[in-house]
Amino acid sequence: MQQIAAAAAALEGRTRILVFTGAGISTESGIPDFRGPEGVWKTVDPKDFTLRHYVTNAEFRRRRWQRRFGEDRREYRPNAAHKAVADLWATGRMVGCITQNIDGLHLDGGLPPTALAEVHGNTRGIECVAGGHRHAVAAVRRRWLDGDLDPQCHCGSILKSTVVLFGEQLPMAAVNRASQFSGGADAAVAVGSTLSVFPAAEYLLAVADRRHPLIILNMGPTDADELATVRLEGKAGDLLPRLVDALRADTE
Ligand code: APR
Repeated sequence: MQQIAAAAAALEGRTRILVFTGAGISTESGIPDFRGPEGVWKTVDPKDFTLRHYVTNAEFRRRRWQRRFGEDRREYRPNAAHKAVADLWATGRMVGCITQNIDGLHLDGGLPPTALAEVHGNTRGIECVAGGHRHAVAAVRRRWLDGDLDPQCHCGSILKSTVVLFGEQLPMAAVNRASQFSGGADAAVAVGSTLSVFPAAEYLLAVADRRHPLIILNMGPTDADELATVRLEGKAGDLLPRLVDALRADTE
């Protein structure tokens, strides 16, 4: 596909590429996106996922814990696109990856934790709303199995997953790492995101603002298409491995 060649040419000589990913990189692993044709927001109200709604709605919290601890959770596997990001990291031409996803599939796909900024948090941790006190997942799960269906922190405040809810501060460590990646990048590749949510998208757009090449790989339009040096229309699992192969050939 000549668009892949055009994208590789636009990235020629770039050695600090920022990869910015959204829900679209995980749909081929079986995880729905938010705004695509089968997106989550078509059937679920985003207002249910604000911090305020979580804190004020005990029934909603109990349902979330039931989903987390009570239902057998399907194991999702990284797909070819996640592996392609890890392969690109291995070429030494990436400054890092900023993901909006909470599924942990970049890590499962082989990307080292130091190369990843999860700006919307992840499902792997549990903390309290008031003081950010961390709790071991196994301990909270044991309490839940013993009947504590809306577990509280020792400080008295409500426990929640370390996924960022609307209206919540982004995690400091991830924000610092994302700023470092964005500030140090000399090119950017956006994969599977409508680029419609801030402040996350700002980390990507700041690279384009410095007039560095921006490749947008997506199924369907994004809010930043007019800034793209090259647009790759199609599935991340098909196109990203081919782009990384072209970049590797360029490096060898
Ligand atoms: N390959 C390429 N693109 C895909 C694929 C795929 N296999 N599957 C879906 N897409 C596209 C969709 O068409 C859509 O344009 O990926 C994009 C995903 O966009 P969103 O659903 O808006 O997801 P994202 O950009 O990650 O949303 C950002 O919004 O709701 C909040 O916190 C949530 O992190 C999320 C944030």
